[in-house]
Amino acid sequence: MSNNSPIGVFDSGVGGLSVWREIVKILPSENIIYFADSKNCPYGTKTDEEIINLSRKIVDFLISQNCKIIVVACNTATAAAISTLRKEYNLPFVGMEPAVKPAAINTKNKKIGVLATEGTIRGSHLKKTTEIYAKDTQVFVQIGEGLVELVESNNIYSDKAIKTLNKCIKPLIDKEIDQLVLGCTHYPFLCKLIKQIDGMENVDIINPAPAVALRTLELIKNTLNTENENYYHFYTSGSILQLKNTLSIIENIDYNKVKIYKTNP
Ligand code: DGL
Repeated sequence: MSNNSPIGVFDSGVGGLSVWREIVKILPSENIIYFADSKNCPYGTKTDEEIINLSRKIVDFLISQNCKIIVVACNTATAAAISTLRKEYNLPFVGMEPAVKPAAINTKNKKIGVLATEGTIRGSHLKKTTEIYAKDTQVFVQIGEGLVELVESNNIYSDKAIKTLNKCIKPLIDKEIDQLVLGCTHYPFLCKLIKQIDGMENVDIINPAPAVALRTLELIKNTLNTENENYYHFYTSGSILQLKNTLSIIENIDYNKVKIYKTNP
């Protein structure tokens, strides 16, 4: 492994690209390998054991590509697998933090909502964070049923998206939340529509991705890429077109650096 070794980033699918874009913003000269496990998506309804096994395979793949650090750009995989991965592999991991802490600091009426997958809500990570940082705050959790699928199929501006989002977010608005934590990396791609939902005008949306990118920078600040050129490689176990469609939503990508491959981990 050297300074020029890539940063590895993975998710159950294309959602982690919302984290990838934040990493590129603050570390534009780094080599990055992204793995989208779209074939096995969603992870949210799988057991912890299944998620750990899938995560191991992806980590083995990223290590075979010589990655110097791995960002688990998936709340569900972080909740189910990151402590096992940290024990089994000898390289640094960055996971998704459910952004309950900034939400608890920002809230004026002490009511916050967390939108996440079934797996993340079931896991102990969110519960612990809530106990530590939101003692005096009411935290309402809601499963974002069907939202991951909307992003995977690039249906982010459809009527179906409006209906599905309303169904997930209305119950939180009815609780009068003033902060909404996006607890799944797919959800930032639905932000424009989320903001348009009735009642959301008074709610701040909190996306933990920039903080995760910052943590990545902190951990590799002494091993940054020293070469003049760098690359962004993408591997998907699903369809290349699907990954391209999500990338096309992200602004300012230097496509000279991009290569996309289909593979199984
Ligand atoms: N992006 C993943 C997350 O952050 C989606 C999980 C899933 O595949 O259900 O949780």
